[in-house]
Amino acid sequence: MKSKKLLLGSILSVSILATSANAADQKLIDAVEQPSAAEIIKKDFLKPAQKYTMPKGCLSGDKDSIARGEFIFHNLNGKKAKGTPPKGLAKFITKGDKKKPKQYGNCVACHNIEGAKGAGNIGPDLTNYKKFFIDAKTRTHAYVYQKIADPRIDNENTHMTVNLTSGLFTEQEICDITAYIISEKK
Ligand code: HEC
Repeated sequence: MKSKKLLLGSILSVSILATSANAADQKLIDAVEQPSAAEIIKKDFLKPAQKYTMPKGCLSGDKDSIARGEFIFHNLNGKKAKGTPPKGLAKFITKGDKKKPKQYGNCVACHNIEGAKGAGNIGPDLTNYKKFFIDAKTRTHAYVYQKIADPRIDNENTHMTVNLTSGLFTEQEICDITAYIISEKK
């Protein structure tokens, strides 16, 4: 009997505690969710998923283009990247009067591919992509371009990074990366 009373008492006090904690939490939420803060956050949100068509001359087969795609695929940014970047790709960019490392794709964090070091397996293995996907007619060049530009068109719940809609890369750079994926590799 005594233990039952004790139990009831502790349930009551726990629920009182919970109620007051909720009130405090609500105050905190109100303070954080001021319209001005919401506006600032909104600016950081990614634009809606966008469908793209490949620009003319996108996949020219140019060796420098493929080399740029390869460099972007395997590196995180211009500061961490080893070696000289291929023609047409910078390691650092200037914004205003500030020089900062250029952000690359780091696709290797999620995808394996020929020559990858420490590749992740969150995304599908892209080794032999030309043979298994392009030549086998499972995928088109346009599909690969769209996937890299904005993967949300194909899969709205994708875990892959958005590369063109986000402004991370230019159309030419998306072409470079696409050219690399679909190229014959040694
Ligand atoms: C955070 C992990 C992640 C990163 C980083 C990432 N991907 Fe992906 N990728 C995925 C996943 C997961 C898929 C599977 C389909 C989906 O969810 O969109 C995918 C699918 C793909 C496909 C389609 C393969 C096919 O034919 O089915 C290509 C091509 C591709 N990624 C290229 C890239 C390139 C190029 C980069 C770098 C610019 C990159 N990915 C960066 C996770 C990633």
